[in-house]
Amino acid sequence: MTERIVLAYSGGLDTSVAIGWIGEATGAEVIAVAVDVGQGGESLEDIRQRALGCGAVEAYVADARDEFANEYAMPTLKANALYQGHYPLVSAISRPVIVKHLVKAAREFGATTVAHGCTGKGNDQVRFEVGIQTLGPDLKCIAPVRDLALTRDKAIAYAEAHNLPIETTKKNPYSIDQNVWGRAVETGYLEDIWNAPTKDIYDYTATPDFPPAPDEVIISFHQGVPVAIDGVKVSPLHAIQELNRRAGAQGVGRIDVVEDRLVGIKSREIYEAPGAMALITAHKHLEDITLEREQARFKATVSQRWAELVYDGQWFSPLKRSLDAFIEDTQKYVSGDIRMTLHGGQAIVNGRRSETSLYDFDLATYDTGDTFDQSQAKGFIELWGMSSKVASTRDQRVQGL
Ligand code: ARG
Repeated sequence: MTERIVLAYSGGLDTSVAIGWIGEATGAEVIAVAVDVGQGGESLEDIRQRALGCGAVEAYVADARDEFANEYAMPTLKANALYQGHYPLVSAISRPVIVKHLVKAAREFGATTVAHGCTGKGNDQVRFEVGIQTLGPDLKCIAPVRDLALTRDKAIAYAEAHNLPIETTKKNPYSIDQNVWGRAVETGYLEDIWNAPTKDIYDYTATPDFPPAPDEVIISFHQGVPVAIDGVKVSPLHAIQELNRRAGAQGVGRIDVVEDRLVGIKSREIYEAPGAMALITAHKHLEDITLEREQARFKATVSQRWAELVYDGQWFSPLKRSLDAFIEDTQKYVSGDIRMTLHGGQAIVNGRRSETSLYDFDLATYDTGDTFDQSQAKGFIELWGMSSKVASTRDQRVQGL
């Protein structure tokens, strides 16, 4: 039987050419796998037809938008995960859901190998291959761009020579990856890290120079997940989409960073994630009133480690799973409403309410009616400072010797 390879297919030039390229290099039949994670653009049916037109023997297409929002974006929100304090893991969380579908398609169509279109310089090759190794340990991986010398120039020449149903003239100097959680833009003019991004780079956000009137929004959460916007019930996917629209119109969620890739390279990235950043901001503020202090402090360190694991392609790892269990436990009381103003590129929280809040007005107030016994503070401070005081007395004694 002819060997079969499933290919992660985007519908773009490189992966369209990869169908025939892989076939010629390996003699295998290629099955194209396209997964909708809310990247917009063409319909899955158009993508399926193109894959078949480019020589795929089968095309597997999946609308994974809700799956992505529920099982990948929501855990990221619950973690308030920002790699290096900035990046809400847009591409990093889409790879594992694509991997799931690749492995599923490999099983369905009897393939032995999985192929993806990543280069050898980025994080995504790691995320695909580590994910595939974990979910399908018997499957092999190949990357035509990296392993079969498929360069962009060769791809254009191949597409033209074979009359493939794909445009080869559209010139985009940037490498773009997008889904409903956000958009990542890199390469070209941006590789000079002193160059400011030009307005044409952005698509999910409007330039906040002349912003429209401020937009006030109330986001309601239940156990860490958004369930309503301005009182209207929403699914996680709808919440992200609605806030992409409203926060995007106010220029919220633009990020310009130089980040540390797993492969040891520092790279310039422009992200826009209006919905993700508005949600993370709101969620964090709700945690501020619903998490106990020590739990909140510890969660911040867990969240950082979680973001690093996910960035580094360890979505399916045991440690990530254990951290998920911790994070899930912290979300039990993260329910309530956050009111925020979206304006001029910022999402600023100005009100919060929750049935499970730990904020106690009577303890906090400086007005009459205060229930906090201030006399207890004096003894507490003495004991709290005791160990430092003892050490400092020792230091002074030793220095005086
Ligand atoms: N640097 C980001 C990450 O590793 C984004 C990568 C996006 N890929 C792309 N082809 N633009 O998660």
